Amino acid sequence: MNTFKWKIHTLLVFWCISCSTGTGKRKSRPNVWCEKAPGLSDGQRKVCHRVPGLQTAIKKGIEKGLSECEREFKWSRWNCTLLGEKNLLQRAPDGTKETAFTTAMLSAAIAFNIAKACTAKDVTECSCEGVKRPFRGQPWKWKGCNVNIRFGSYAAERFMMSGRSNDTKLKMMSRHNVRAGLEVLKENRVIRCTVGNTGNVKSCHLTLPPLEKISRILKAKYNGANEVFPSLRENKKSLYLLNRARFRNRQSGNRPKKSALVFLVKSQYCYRQDEYRILGTQGRLCRRNTNKEDDCIFLCCGRGYSRNVSHKKRFCNCKKGPSAPCSCKLCTDVVIENKCL
Ligand SMILES: *[C@@H]1O[C@H](CO)[C@@H](O)[C@H](O)[C@H]1NC(C)=O
Ligand SMILES: *[C@@H]1O[C@H](CO)[C@@H](O)[C@H](O)[C@H]1NC(C)=O
Ligand SMILES: *[C@@H]1O[C@H](CO)[C@@H](O)[C@H](O)[C@H]1NC(C)=O
Repeated sequence: MNTFKWKIHTLLVFWCISCSTGTGKRKSRPNVWCEKAPGLSDGQRKVCHRVPGLQTAIKKGIEKGLSECEREFKWSRWNCTLLGEKNLLQRAPDGTKETAFTTAMLSAAIAFNIAKACTAKDVTECSCEGVKRPFRGQPWKWKGCNVNIRFGSYAAERFMMSGRSNDTKLKMMSRHNVRAGLEVLKENRVIRCTVGNTGNVKSCHLTLPPLEKISRILKAKYNGANEVFPSLRENKKSLYLLNRARFRNRQSGNRPKKSALVFLVKSQYCYRQDEYRILGTQGRLCRRNTNKEDDCIFLCCGRGYSRNVSHKKRFCNCKKGPSAPCSCKLCTDVVIENKCL
């Protein structure tokens, strides 16, 4: 018993130390990430380190964007993963609805983090966005730092569109989805105001919405994404995207809306398909009787699932004591796992 307790303590002391040193300052040489990040094009590497400070913001934007993607699609047939993917910006096959989401999400997250870095003066080429002209008789003033979504979006679009693809159709799809992501970010800026003693609004400035809100909106747009095809313009020189028949609607007609997500090809994620690097849903965790996309019947595509009930021990109710650094109790959790066959 004694030994056991001692073991617990060793473990926790170790954890405490590794935790406090793990987050210590790690100085990295400038521009290393841009050069090494897998799958970036030469153009993207250039954009990435042309402006001091941009690299950190882009890196953070990509990390945040991908983790939002993984969170939103954790319980979907496609879980924001490709088989053996080496390209940082690609998580689904070209031309698909899933790539549309990834593109828009990454664009918004990169613009978000660049705009944030502008406010913090971490990027040399930008600061706050210019003061808005007040409307006539406006009883309050614009004051404080307006978050620079304009610069963030400009730089994010430059970065996203400097990708590798030579394919005109894919490039058009990509541009539309980049702009859709940026549009959603812009539409959801938050006006933050200060209120005076009398309860009147005194001054306001623009700030960023939570990124989770952007992901949620983009997920809904993914669910309603438009299938499109490229069509020649009257002058026969330029292409534009038109909605396929069943995606046409009265408000926007044949052209997809600016903030709609668009895709070119349909895809399915039930079975493993090596040529498209699709994993399939075998081995995925699912839930029973939810009647939603995480439902085993849907997620496992009717193949059935296995159920495993196990007991897991973990430390709980940890307290800092005077003699030992931390002391904990041992709790047992019942863990139920349903996995697709
Ligand atoms: C997606 O599911 C596969 C199993 O099919 C798993 O290996 C992978 O880690 C999952 N990806 C994420 C981001 O959870
Ligand atoms: C893109 O086009 C250039 C020149 O037109 C060519 O050298 C390059 O290999 C192409 N890249 C891809 C990925 O097709
Ligand atoms: C059930 O889960 C436990 C704990 O995760 C694992 O050790 C065990 O191998 C699993 N059993 C089956 C049949 O998958």
